[in-house]
Amino acid sequence: MVRCSLRLFQKASKTTQNQKWISSLLPVCKTPDQAKQELRWIQMELPQDKWDQAIQERSKFIPLQYILGSQPFGSLDIKCRPQVLIPRWETEEWTLKIINKLRGISSLKILDVCTGTGCIPLLMGHSLPHLQIKAMDISSDALELSNENKKIHGITNVEFKYGNVFDKGLLEGEEFDLITSNPPYISELDYLNGETEESVLQNEPKLALVGGLEFYDALVNNVVLPSKATGFFFELGDLEQALYTQSLLNKDWCTKIYKDGADKIRCVYGWKKGSKMQVLEFI
Ligand SMILES: C[S@@+](CC[C@H](N)C(=O)[O-])C[C@H]1O[C@@H](n2cnc3c(N)ncnc32)[C@H](O)[C@@H]1O
Repeated sequence: MVRCSLRLFQKASKTTQNQKWISSLLPVCKTPDQAKQELRWIQMELPQDKWDQAIQERSKFIPLQYILGSQPFGSLDIKCRPQVLIPRWETEEWTLKIINKLRGISSLKILDVCTGTGCIPLLMGHSLPHLQIKAMDISSDALELSNENKKIHGITNVEFKYGNVFDKGLLEGEEFDLITSNPPYISELDYLNGETEESVLQNEPKLALVGGLEFYDALVNNVVLPSKATGFFFELGDLEQALYTQSLLNKDWCTKIYKDGADKIRCVYGWKKGSKMQVLEFI
């Protein structure tokens, strides 16, 4: 008989079980460190009787955020579920930068188009409770989830409604100061030719991902210009989309390209010369 204390035995079997789970996570996580990190999150956030099932789901490329049910976004934990895009760190990064620039402004109307979970307007509304924010999406799944997120966080200055950015009468004459958007911007080709991660392809809605210049055209011509906004901030995927958006605006506008923390072109933004949205200049 092996001479071994109960505590040592329990520790050894826990380690063996963890190693099995890490091996199951490795094909989807790619590095042992990432697999260990994901296992830690699963063990921290789910009850023990759900760990095995969670690891099985994750090993089938289901995004961790759909398994755990949320994704941190600034100070908010945003509820996530299939059919609605999971908020990304790149979006969180620029949203936080805008919030910092808007802190000194006492009154402002903001519209977020293509809002998904509502992460952008909800973080703005939560951080800047004196501002009025509206947000739109074409997807009923997204609108249902964004309203749930609003309720979870008790946010009262954000309103969600249906809206198709290609609808020329989208705003019904309403005016805004600042328009934000993270529209679908991956080309059909990149979506299909292996540029897009397997777990994204298999699980996140194509409606939220595939799009191109037509979205920037609609954002400028159906939203920015009719709303009389003096500022805008749009996420995008490449230089062509940035240059195209800049080309749609006349010389009353100053525009800039924003690079994210990974040094990738990530947004195009602009403000009308002499307007209060000039605060965006040094973002
Ligand atoms: C890239 S996701 C962004 C979601 C969210 N803003 C975020 O950053 O996580 C794009 C969103 O645009 C919505 N969408 C797609 N086509 C649209 C359209 N024609 N009009 C309005 N929203 C649209 C999708 O339903 C999806 O929620």
